[in-house]
Amino acid sequence: MDVKLQGINKSFGNVSILEDVNLLFPSRKFVTLLGPSGCGKTTLLRMIAGLEEVSAGTILFGGREVNKLAPRDRNIAMVFQSYALYPQMTVRRNLGYGLRVRKTPPAEIDDAVERVARILEIDHLLDRKPAQLSGGQRQRVALGRAMVRKPDIFLMDEPLSNLDAKLRVTMRGELRRFHLDLNATTVYVTHDQLEAMTMSDLIAVMHKGRVQQFGTPEDVYSRPANLFVAGFIGSPPMNFLDGAIDLGRFKVREAALPLPPLASGVAPGLDAVIGVRPQDLSLVDTAGSDALTGKVSLVELLGSEKLIEVQVSDRKRISVQVHAATQVALGEKVHVRFSAQSTHVFDKRTEQSLLAEAAIGEARQ
Ligand SMILES: Nc1ncnc2c1ncn2[C@@H]1O[C@H](COP(=O)(O)OP(=O)(O)O)[C@@H](O)[C@H]1O
Ligand SMILES: [Mg+2]
Repeated sequence: MDVKLQGINKSFGNVSILEDVNLLFPSRKFVTLLGPSGCGKTTLLRMIAGLEEVSAGTILFGGREVNKLAPRDRNIAMVFQSYALYPQMTVRRNLGYGLRVRKTPPAEIDDAVERVARILEIDHLLDRKPAQLSGGQRQRVALGRAMVRKPDIFLMDEPLSNLDAKLRVTMRGELRRFHLDLNATTVYVTHDQLEAMTMSDLIAVMHKGRVQQFGTPEDVYSRPANLFVAGFIGSPPMNFLDGAIDLGRFKVREAALPLPPLASGVAPGLDAVIGVRPQDLSLVDTAGSDALTGKVSLVELLGSEKLIEVQVSDRKRISVQVHAATQVALGEKVHVRFSAQSTHVFDKRTEQSLLAEAAIGEARQ
């Protein structure tokens, strides 16, 4: 069932929390609301669930307005960061709880519980109590409890944030598989861009109560619509440089860096910011107009890669990611080469992308 948010606004008192949110989550897709803490993700999810009223706008499930429907009438299931299992009940009873309160026949409850327990690989734990489970197993029971009811829409608010780093990685893959088994539209909330990138069909990047960009992981990574998205997505983070656009090149100090095609109407001399990911830069032997020269100020081994920090001016350092076998010494003079096709360009004032491609992307929506 698709979920449509139309002109959603939310204020608490006279403080505006969400402004003009318009999103369409296609049926059965895994959609993530991604943004820093306090940007309004939980509030938006709670409005979809019916736990919070909208101040303005319409929420539709499968084309039907649900603004006035109580949470229990929306056929949704929710998993929160702080999931509470009933400690005195076995896993089996915890899983069946939602169906029991709806007076589902016992045989049907048993079937549903066993089906979900098999999917989550907790069928051998059904007779244990929550205290006898590991953190990851408890989290799966919490997920299972939500899945048992075959919801149309599955809402998750940072469900992995209480788990340790290794388990979080495993659970990412599992959640993705549960989603495919469940056949529901999933709306997932996280502040972790890597989680969003690895799990989602679509990501809505949020900041200060507004949707900054809505697209596939590939869209938000390769064609960030503005400076915020560019800086928030990707690790290590994108490098940014201030300068001016001149005859299709980017003037910064002694260099005139190559630029990709820009949207029409970009004024000559416009103050701009370019962004380049550390992975898209390279170290070359010779200076040139497409390179900035500086001294190596830090070398960090990341595993199969190395992150080299190059001081290109008094106040500016650039990170370059190279293969771990690359030999560079601290203090060594190096040239960092920029290439047109992996350079992102933003208007310094509006912070919006100036790439010709970005304009095409917008027109397509
Ligand atoms: N019930 C409430 N009353 C007043 N302000 C609230 C309430 N709930 C959330 N807020 C505020 O709304 C903003 C967004 O909160 P939230 O949706 O929880 O953000 P996120 O989940 O992205 O961290 C925050 O500034 C928060 O303090
Ligand atoms: Mg939150």
